[in-house]
Amino acid sequence: MSTVNDPNRVIIFDTTLRDGEQAPGASMNLEEKLRVAEALEHLGVDVIEAGFPIASNGDFESVNEVAKLLKNTIICGLARAGRKDIDRAAEALKPAKQKRIHTFIATSPLHMKFKLQMEPAAVHQAVIDSVTHARNLCDDVEWSSEDGTRSEMDFLCRVIEAAIKAGARTINIPDTVGYTVPSEYEQFLTTIRNRVPNIDKARISVHCHNDLGLAVANSLAGVQAGARQVECTINGLGERAGNAALEEIVMALRTRADAMPYTTGITTENIMKTSRLVSAITGFPVQPNKAIVGANAFAHESGIHQDGMLKHAGTYEIMTPASVGLNKSNLVLGKHSGRHAFKNKLRDLGFDLGDNAVEDVFRRFKDLADKKKDVFDDDIIALVDDTAMRVNDIIKFVSLRVVAGSFGPQTADLELDIDGTVKKAVGVKGDGPVDATFNAIKALFPHEVKLNLYQVQAVTQGTDAQAEVTVRIEENGRTVNGQGADTDTLVASARAYVNALNKLLVKREKAAPAALSA
Ligand code: KIV
Ligand code: ZN
Repeated sequence: MSTVNDPNRVIIFDTTLRDGEQAPGASMNLEEKLRVAEALEHLGVDVIEAGFPIASNGDFESVNEVAKLLKNTIICGLARAGRKDIDRAAEALKPAKQKRIHTFIATSPLHMKFKLQMEPAAVHQAVIDSVTHARNLCDDVEWSSEDGTRSEMDFLCRVIEAAIKAGARTINIPDTVGYTVPSEYEQFLTTIRNRVPNIDKARISVHCHNDLGLAVANSLAGVQAGARQVECTINGLGERAGNAALEEIVMALRTRADAMPYTTGITTENIMKTSRLVSAITGFPVQPNKAIVGANAFAHESGIHQDGMLKHAGTYEIMTPASVGLNKSNLVLGKHSGRHAFKNKLRDLGFDLGDNAVEDVFRRFKDLADKKKDVFDDDIIALVDDTAMRVNDIIKFVSLRVVAGSFGPQTADLELDIDGTVKKAVGVKGDGPVDATFNAIKALFPHEVKLNLYQVQAVTQGTDAQAEVTVRIEENGRTVNGQGADTDTLVASARAYVNALNKLLVKREKAAPAALSA
């Protein structure tokens, strides 16, 4: 494996826990963040941006705990250009073996004038002051020009030069609003490399958002132009259309090493399980046709393709499923399948669960197998998402009975375990069975939220298929997603709503002032 000093080695800077978590609806509690951080270290990322310590006590604590936990990865905290932000980041990072402060300020005319309401000269000075202050607290400082791709080249080159002079070792040029295109970004970075006199003293980094679906292409163009750090997230999670997807960048570099001779330190065989973990924890499903980690990414359905695959896998497969940690087997489980086969199946699907979690999922698998003849891979994935990731929930689903049908009124009897106490609501009415179920949840756990999305999807085919329900709720501008799966659509709905409420409880602890947006 190449070392970080190899000129063609690309540093993978993962920001799932910071930019990824800023996606509306994606929120993680401390334990969940630690699980993701551990998975990222196993994946082999070089830098983990663990949060924005000034944003809230929760963010501070998660950066601090990640810093205590991990041994081999550089832990990074984000800070605006003010001393308070930088001090808070340095404080949170104190326990880290290897640490980095990432400080940023917007440099585009639009952002400087309307958002910051600062003159360019004041921004230039703020860059010098912030980087100098950060360097007094930490050897490894990264500086970012927010909205970099819409900044004026002369000004940008001058502030980059000043940031490097003040001690920044990494210069990140974000495409904050996902506006650039590959050829333009490549040219933009090449100009910076040619015009900033001290650019050889820093590593250039790219950070691309996906508003036009170009985040990965732009990031790779940046690498071609000499960037040796890519900022990205698992599953492309992030604000609006998300960030560049780590798995796509890494597999593009690996699969097309002939065209792009660059390496990373990623253990690609751990990609699938990391993707599944992030999806389950955030409640953001991965679209089936998503490159690398989508359920269909390695599926061959048409006769011609299947025939070709049987003759030679290379006919339709440019990388092997095993290279991303997917060991597809055709084994379908049923009610006679034992623990051993079940554990093997979990492993083949890329799940890495602790013993207790395996037991919980196995119990639900047995219940499912009693109701459904064949249990497919997608059933098991839905069960894991719905079971193993819920261990820290304050509100837990216990049971539900609904009276439905054309004679109304529809009513729900519901039991929930709320912080260790089982509570029961009986005969709660609603306009239909789903409404009755959600009203029963409100009766047991009073709250006011806006329901923005209620969506039902069959996990597999057939009338005995599990339903996977997604619910999105909003409270005071904070949005969360919840998911639930069951062969009974109403039980899945209750589970999804309860999951969303648990996420909202986590989110309530966080402040999200608009001025902190990055
Ligand atoms: O998109 C962006 O500009 C950012 C910076 C803070 C790096 O996330
Ligand atoms: Zn960003």
